Amino acid sequence: MIYERRGASSIQGAFTVPGDKSISHRALLFSSLAKGKSEIKGISSGGDVKSTMSCLKQLGVKIDQAGGVVTVRGEGKWAFSRPESMLDAGNSGTTMRLLTGILAGQKFETAITGDETLRKRPMQRIVAPLSEMGAKIVGSDNMTAPLRIFPAERLHGIRYELPLPSAQVKSSILLAGLFAHGETIVVEPVESRDHTERMLRLRKTKGPSGLETTITSDYEVMPAEYDVAGDISSAAFYLAAGAILPNSTVTARGITLNPTRTGFLDVLELMGAKVKIENVREVAGEPLGDVTVSHSELKGVEIGGEMIPRLIDELPVIGVLASFAKGETAIRDAHDLRRKESDRIVAVVDNLDAMGGEVQELDDGFVVNGTGHLVGAEIDTYKDHRIAMAFTVAGLAAEGVTTIRNAEWAQISFPEFYEILEGLIVQGRKTSMAK
Ligand code: S3P
Repeated sequence: MIYERRGASSIQGAFTVPGDKSISHRALLFSSLAKGKSEIKGISSGGDVKSTMSCLKQLGVKIDQAGGVVTVRGEGKWAFSRPESMLDAGNSGTTMRLLTGILAGQKFETAITGDETLRKRPMQRIVAPLSEMGAKIVGSDNMTAPLRIFPAERLHGIRYELPLPSAQVKSSILLAGLFAHGETIVVEPVESRDHTERMLRLRKTKGPSGLETTITSDYEVMPAEYDVAGDISSAAFYLAAGAILPNSTVTARGITLNPTRTGFLDVLELMGAKVKIENVREVAGEPLGDVTVSHSELKGVEIGGEMIPRLIDELPVIGVLASFAKGETAIRDAHDLRRKESDRIVAVVDNLDAMGGEVQELDDGFVVNGTGHLVGAEIDTYKDHRIAMAFTVAGLAAEGVTTIRNAEWAQISFPEFYEILEGLIVQGRKTSMAK
């Protein structure tokens, strides 16, 4: 699909985004590990979550979807069956890394692969700790997918200090811990998203080198009813557009306000955007609420350190915001951004540059000098959903025509992105969508 637009004057209105991707993956995985019926409402409609669902079905889990509710009939952690063919995680790092934690403890051999992009992403970060636990995993060059996971003697617990904050690595180890003899302890240097711990109700303690979470194989995952909060990482695109387009006010209804995910809202406030948070409540252990953002003058900010994991997926759209903020915005300590669905440092820098922005690449981030002006350009999505969506937002605020080829990459996390966007644009100028 090609998305082409000659800017927009403003956006207005309230919207609902589909369920949070990270929470949706976990609701499916934990329901499959439980014995009994679980129900998931508001699951993410994105391709990544579909990948998790189809891998679990291949492992023999009974999953049905009807009327917006996904029903999972789990039979417990030992009831998975050997898949007939290789599992395919598609574009989804979360599927591959979390599922491998479960597969490492199984008594049968499996193999898991992914699309061209996922097959390039580093898996050593999970293979190292899982191997330390006794797992037998063989990968391709440089420890990338496809991964072959052989049945191991019983896994044993380890104490693992994560070398970098990663919720996927943390969750993979905790899931393997369900199959391990003794205690499995993960220690995080900086807190990353904690949906796994919340859903499994794992207690965190403060250890000498960071936050510690412990699990043992006695832990029984229980069936549950999940009501997934809206994905703040999807809502972020419209909230960013609301902050940079004059006369705009947009409200995201019912999005996750889990503090490990709300760094983007903090940045909007630091930049001077008007942010209003209302109707805060808690559903199934996860806070959520309505967030309204209105346009105002923005100023540059410094982002780094412990803030990074709380907004890692929003950094591309923050790069766009920064172009419309007065002064300099510097993103540092985000080296892992190079290892996402694309090298997002390169993708942001190249596309901002193509749009006439002033941007400088750093090894672990980028620096944007806000000029308040971008010009339309042909965007390279780098086959990355968040780059396609972030630069669609840039195109709304740019002068002239912006073209997003392969805009369908948005479907990985947010298939409804363009439809909801068109409904929010007030005085849209010319737009076209071609297959
Ligand atoms: C995710 C964790 C993050 C994030 C990804 C989803 C998760 O990745 O970027 O989109 O659901 O656990 P890392 O764990 O690699 O930081």
